[in-house]
Amino acid sequence: MADERKTVFSGLQPTGNIHLGNYLGALKNWVRLQDEYDTVYCVVDLHAITVDYDPVKFHQDRLEAAKVLMAVGIDPGRSLFYFQSQVPQHSELAWILGTMTPTGVLNRMTQYKDKVAKGVAANLGLYSYPVLMAADILLYRASLVPIGDDQKQHLEMTRDLAERFNNRFGEVFPIPDPLIPETTARIMSLQEPGNKMSKSDPNEKSRVLILDSPDDITKKIKSAVTDSDPDVRFDWDEKPGISNLLEIMSGCTGQSIDDLVAEYGDKGYGVFKQAVADAVIAELASVRASYKALDDAEVARLMTKGALDARQRAEGFQQEIRKFTGLSGI
Ligand code: TYM
Repeated sequence: MADERKTVFSGLQPTGNIHLGNYLGALKNWVRLQDEYDTVYCVVDLHAITVDYDPVKFHQDRLEAAKVLMAVGIDPGRSLFYFQSQVPQHSELAWILGTMTPTGVLNRMTQYKDKVAKGVAANLGLYSYPVLMAADILLYRASLVPIGDDQKQHLEMTRDLAERFNNRFGEVFPIPDPLIPETTARIMSLQEPGNKMSKSDPNEKSRVLILDSPDDITKKIKSAVTDSDPDVRFDWDEKPGISNLLEIMSGCTGQSIDDLVAEYGDKGYGVFKQAVADAVIAELASVRASYKALDDAEVARLMTKGALDARQRAEGFQQEIRKFTGLSGI
């Protein structure tokens, strides 16, 4: 029987350092959606090579990312899960969509502008990164895309490209909606709460990694930059460090920010930070345990199988797109 469920697609770059921001902003939703939707998840290795990298380390990081995602709860038995580069249909669709992407739109992409402003070498791959992302999503006719806030602009561009394609060639793609969490869409750096928590921040204390030991988690949360007024209040302007910790704790425990403020408002930062650290440790304990139980060779085998299944599915979509665009006969 045909699968009538709507399709979910999302991706993560295998640049090492998968952190609490990735987890609370996106991965928790990836896992949850497996119960209800046809889920397709991808380690987007082609996106990751748009910046300078070491091929040997990269190859390890790729497998490591797949292993961490499985430990978080991505189940290759329930989700299509694979490395992007092993399914060449992504790249072909990216080329087709690229022919419909005005350069003016790409010039407005803030992630590209931020990276170049920070000194990353501008190249065509980095520039057209959002087009490949659109191809990832549209290839599988995805309707829902679980992401953090920083990918919102890319998703808007994806929606726009889907509309352009449909208007020109016929109704092929559903217009995908983002799924962005209400409270944890943008987890900030623990050291500079004005910046988002990021894999590429050179300061390791700025982020909690998903596989950090309980000791490291406690140390990092305790040394999180806050302010000198002792009240625990949710106020991004005056208290960004504390507001970030409140969001982190809410994301880990499921308690509302209001309840947390009522509970910790006047207890002082020492007690609050310990409670946040305990909540993060409890949330990530099962991920650490699952990670330890996973075997590299088995993860690699599952990824090869995932790529075979994904290619088979993507080939059908590719044929259809080729017909619509006149690249093959109807
Ligand atoms: P990437 O690898 O940077 O991040 C993976 C996911 O984590 C989210 N995220 C955050 N959420 C909250 N707070 C943070 N500090 C934080 N940092 C990262 C990201 O929003 C993302 O959802 N371009 C994508 C990868 C991609 C993709 C796709 C995503 C390629 N193709 C198709 C969705 C659909 C990226 O670089 O994510």
